[in-house]
Amino acid sequence: MLLKDKVALVTGASRGIGRAISLGFAAEGANLVICSRTESQIQELTAEIRAAGRECLGVVAAVENEADVNRMVAEALATFGRIDILVNNAGLSNPKPFLETTIADWDEALNVNLKGSILCMRAVLPDMLRRGAGKVINIASAAGLRGLPGSPAYAASKAAVIALTQALGDELMEKGLRINVVCPGPVKTELLDRSAVRNFVVKNPATILPTDDVVGLALYLASDMSGGLNSQIICLRNSNRW
Ligand SMILES: NC(=O)c1ccc[n+]([C@@H]2O[C@H](COP(=O)([O-])OP(=O)(O)OC[C@H]3O[C@@H](n4cnc5c(N)ncnc54)[C@H](OP(=O)(O)O)[C@@H]3O)[C@@H](O)[C@H]2O)c1
Repeated sequence: MLLKDKVALVTGASRGIGRAISLGFAAEGANLVICSRTESQIQELTAEIRAAGRECLGVVAAVENEADVNRMVAEALATFGRIDILVNNAGLSNPKPFLETTIADWDEALNVNLKGSILCMRAVLPDMLRRGAGKVINIASAAGLRGLPGSPAYAASKAAVIALTQALGDELMEKGLRINVVCPGPVKTELLDRSAVRNFVVKNPATILPTDDVVGLALYLASDMSGGLNSQIICLRNSNRW
C-alpha cells in the first residue's frame, strides 16, 4: 500500500476529483480528513471510507472561511495527531467573458480557488514544519498556464495557485516539505459539465480525462515514490486542442 496509515486532508471531497482522490487514497491505506460545504455528501463519503476499513473525519467547511478552515485543521490534529498530506482541491469555475465578469465574480474565484488554498496551507504547514515532513498537492488547471478564453477569473486564480506553489515549494524545501501543483485539462466532473455548457465546448470528447488519471498522479505525489520532487508544475493534457 502506497499510503499505509498516512493522514491526508482533501478539500472539496464531496464529488468529482476530490471524491475520487479521497477514495483512491483510502484504498492505498490512508486515513482521511475530508471537507466540503454539503453536509449530506460529506456524511455519505465518510461512511463509505469507514466501510472500506479506514478512519475518516468528515467536516463541513468552506475553504475561503478562515474560522472554518482553522476549526477543521484543529479537529484533524486532535483526531489523528498529524496531517501528512494536504490536497487543496476545492475549487469553482464561474465562466464569463471579461467584461461580463463582475467584481463579485472575481472575489468568488479568487476567494475559493486562491485564498482557500492559502488558508489551508497556513493552517496545516505549522504541523508539517514541526515534524519536518509533509506533502502538499495543489490542484490548479491547464487554464492557469495558458489562460482559458471566456474564463478570465478562473484562469487568473489558477495561475496564482501555480505561482504560490512554486514560491512556497522553494521556500520550504530545505525544511522537508514537498509542494507540487497539478494542472489538469478537462476532467469528467460536474464542474466541466457546468463550464462546458456555459462557456466552451470540448470539441473532441476523447480529450476529456477520467478522474482516475488525476488520482494516479496525486497518489504518486503523495507517496514516497515521488521522493524529493518539489515545486513542480505537472500537467495532464496541457493543450489548447480540446
Ligand atoms: N473538471 C475539470 O475539468 C477540471 C480541470 C482542471 C482543474 N480542475 C480543478 O479540480 C478541482 C476539483 O474540480 P471538480 O471538477 O472535481 O469540481 P466539482 O465536481 O464541482 O467539485 C468541486 C468540489 O469542491 C467543493 N467546493 C466547492 N466550493 C467549495 C468551498 N468554497 N469550500 C469547500 N469546498 C468547496 C464542492 O463541494 P460543495 O459544493 O458541497 O462545497 C465539491 O466537492 C477544482 O479546483 C477545479 O478547478 C477541474
